[in-house]
Amino acid sequence: MRAVYIAEFGAAENLEIREVQNPSAPRDTEVLVRVKAAGLNRADIVQRKGFYPAPEGFPERIPGLEFAGEIAAIGENVRNFKVGDRVFGITAGGAQAEFLLTEESLLAAIPENLSFVEAAAVPEVFITAYDAAFDQCELRAGETLLIHAVGSGVGLAALQLAKAHNIRTIGTSRTADKLAKCAEFGLDCAILAADDLIENRPSEFAAKVRSESASGKGADVILDLVGAKYLAANIEALAPRGRLISVGLTGGAIAEKFNLGAVLTKRARIIGTVLRSRPPAEKARANRVFIEKVLPLLAAGKVRANIDRIFSIDEVKKAHQYLESNESFGKVILEIEAG
Ligand SMILES: NC(=O)c1ccc[n+]([C@@H]2O[C@H](COP(=O)([O-])OP(=O)(O)OC[C@H]3O[C@@H](n4cnc5c(N)ncnc54)[C@H](OP(=O)(O)O)[C@@H]3O)[C@@H](O)[C@H]2O)c1
Repeated sequence: MRAVYIAEFGAAENLEIREVQNPSAPRDTEVLVRVKAAGLNRADIVQRKGFYPAPEGFPERIPGLEFAGEIAAIGENVRNFKVGDRVFGITAGGAQAEFLLTEESLLAAIPENLSFVEAAAVPEVFITAYDAAFDQCELRAGETLLIHAVGSGVGLAALQLAKAHNIRTIGTSRTADKLAKCAEFGLDCAILAADDLIENRPSEFAAKVRSESASGKGADVILDLVGAKYLAANIEALAPRGRLISVGLTGGAIAEKFNLGAVLTKRARIIGTVLRSRPPAEKARANRVFIEKVLPLLAAGKVRANIDRIFSIDEVKKAHQYLESNESFGKVILEIEAG
């Protein structure tokens, strides 16, 4: 089969399309998926650079954390799917290839209103966003959610989910144009992260968040897709009993200075999360929650896939460079097989 292949860890130029061996035939509860499209993620870039090795049992050189496709074969104990079904889901690697062997517990049926390409833009960002904001941080109607890098894939998924649940939303981005586009998704308050506002003037930023929050006391939940450089401001911007969840680290992993005293007096919670390396049972649970809570919203058109650009698998180098440019608004997708 054809697959994206990291010939050497480093630059996007080191990516190739290679003929590699097909996965083995599915056994037990395994499913073989003929992949039609796969989402590109920041994690693929970090893996390509050699800093995010695939977990045990997943290919070291073939990236891909999410996919949409058709079932080509099933193991003898698969109960919920049959050959030919349209499915999508997350995996810990290897999805950017013509075939992927996975577990039925990690699959969901693609709603009829979504194409394969649209479906490939959903699993990683919607599972991450719902799991982080609603499941782990227990975000409730009437509360305020602050989303950093709101024009990102995860950010737009979180924004739509929040609006579908009657939550007030505040979003940040370094790009004015992305904030303007977020208004179409119902973003209540946009804060341009220009002049390093958030890292250099945290009190000014926190005052703005408080004044824009539903309670006037700050953000109840902060979905942080940026990381260390925003930590001090995040703690200032949290409401009493607020929850800060660290999801992404494009802005660094090591925070120099923040006020732990405020964490105590606010009785705040700081949570870290990762999807890829979770044990299979926990991943399956996140997928079940996605099926129960998010799929109906997708099927009803209340939330939707947000595709910025589609590349063919042969253009994978360009796709990586584009994602790294930070220009994208929403998802970048690789089409693995036409149609
Ligand atoms: N923990 C998990 O399980 C999990 C799952 C999925 C994703 N993630 C992480 O979550 C983050 C978002 O993922 P995504 O796929 O939604 O990203 P994305 O669509 O690629 O968007 C990321 C955006 O972040 C902003 N950004 C990049 N570098 C920045 C910096 N140094 N400072 C401030 N803003 C910066 C850029 O937008 P602007 O500059 O225009 O604002 C960029 O477009 C990534 O770090 C990703 O690795 C984690």
